[in-house]
Amino acid sequence: MRTIIEPFRIKAVEPIRMTSAAQREALLAAARFNPFLLHAQDVLIDLLTDSGASAMSSEQWAGIMRGDESYAGSQSFWRLKETLLEMTGFANILPTHQGRASERILFDLIGGPTKVVPNNAHFDTTRANIEHSGAKAVNLPIPESYVPSNRHPFKGNMDVDALERLIAQVGRENIPLVMMTVTNNSCGGQPVSLANLRAVRAVCDRHGLPLYLDACRFAENAWFIKTREPDCQSMSVREIVRAMFDLADGASISAKKDGLVNIGGLLLIKDDNLFQRACNLLILTEGFVTYGGLAGRDLEAMAQGYKEVLEEDYLSYRIRSVEYLGEKLLTAGIKIIEPPGGHAIYIDAGHFCPHIPASQFPGQAVVCGLYRIAGIRSCEIGSVMAGPNPTNPPAIELVRLALPRRAYTQSHFDYVAEACSELFARRHELRGLRIVEAPTVLRHFTATFAEI
Ligand code: F0G
Repeated sequence: MRTIIEPFRIKAVEPIRMTSAAQREALLAAARFNPFLLHAQDVLIDLLTDSGASAMSSEQWAGIMRGDESYAGSQSFWRLKETLLEMTGFANILPTHQGRASERILFDLIGGPTKVVPNNAHFDTTRANIEHSGAKAVNLPIPESYVPSNRHPFKGNMDVDALERLIAQVGRENIPLVMMTVTNNSCGGQPVSLANLRAVRAVCDRHGLPLYLDACRFAENAWFIKTREPDCQSMSVREIVRAMFDLADGASISAKKDGLVNIGGLLLIKDDNLFQRACNLLILTEGFVTYGGLAGRDLEAMAQGYKEVLEEDYLSYRIRSVEYLGEKLLTAGIKIIEPPGGHAIYIDAGHFCPHIPASQFPGQAVVCGLYRIAGIRSCEIGSVMAGPNPTNPPAIELVRLALPRRAYTQSHFDYVAEACSELFARRHELRGLRIVEAPTVLRHFTATFAEI
């Protein structure tokens, strides 16, 4: 059979509520044209993020009941540790409440003024935590990643020559580690090849630098390696995942993505001394080392999630769903970052509404348009998110449609595609916006807008 189906049937349902166009008009105005300020119950299909929005399996819910809530040495922790040891080879693991808590601990320990941290592309919270420590975060994506229509199979790769140049320029003593984000969220959810990870590892070895993964979406990355990298097609996803982690000295992970859970994170550190210092910091701010700010039941659900996410039927359906939506938008003439990434479709909002200049936030106009027309919530990744005086102004105004895992079915994506096409046909009606009020940092969460 050629049809790829959702590899699950549905046991519990959560109703979603249709609103009228007039209701949505009023709700959007009350939220001051910022869908972050909407009540979730007023959203029909929520594509704001893929983070923490997964549907858990019946085994995960069973794990919630099994969760051992002991303060120290909980059985759920040991189960999680065993799962991760088998999957990643790492024995030193810490649970945290989410990815940014892992980042904060890591960069508190190894960041600081004069330090420089290279990455294929930093996610916002990674950058923010690095900068909070006084260090500088540098993105080194391959040039192809700047061209939305370039269908390079591994557009998330790092530019290895640029890494060499950076090391020569700032000195290896100022680089505490090199980071690789898999998949590369800031560049469109694009994968990194095993060959590129190996090439970066070789540079790190030459200069005696540790290599860390930002491994939120490592399983999606592994699926792309399996299906696109010629030397890896006979490997199982599990083998590819292991090969990725074998190249790393550590990893910071948000389990809210490929952990298939609603909350949780991990910090993996090979170096025993650094790990010990991370344990001390974890106890200070998150919790004891066997729970790290989570309940025992969360650890149990995470352990099960990391087993399920490696199932190849799941990954094939997952990546196909994103590609399916992407293909429908391309057919409608909508420009997106190509090829579709692992967790989201990124619409080129500058192309969608060329009559709206960047200063009037074309991405936000499309976000508002999608809510108005169909109750869909999406997220601007452009001049609003970049802030008032960005160090790296966005090269392209984007709207991200992030797909929560296992939460929506193919007919939901047909609906989303229809809404996007209809909005595109009426794009001349979209209006630019101005900011009424906004905080100076991370303004996209709470800014309020007025239409021009
Ligand atoms: N790294 C990457 C690559 C991420 O995408 C995220 C979160 C984090 C780190 C931080 O993890 O949210 O658990 O603290 N990304 C979400 C998103 C928020 O919508 O892309 P967290």
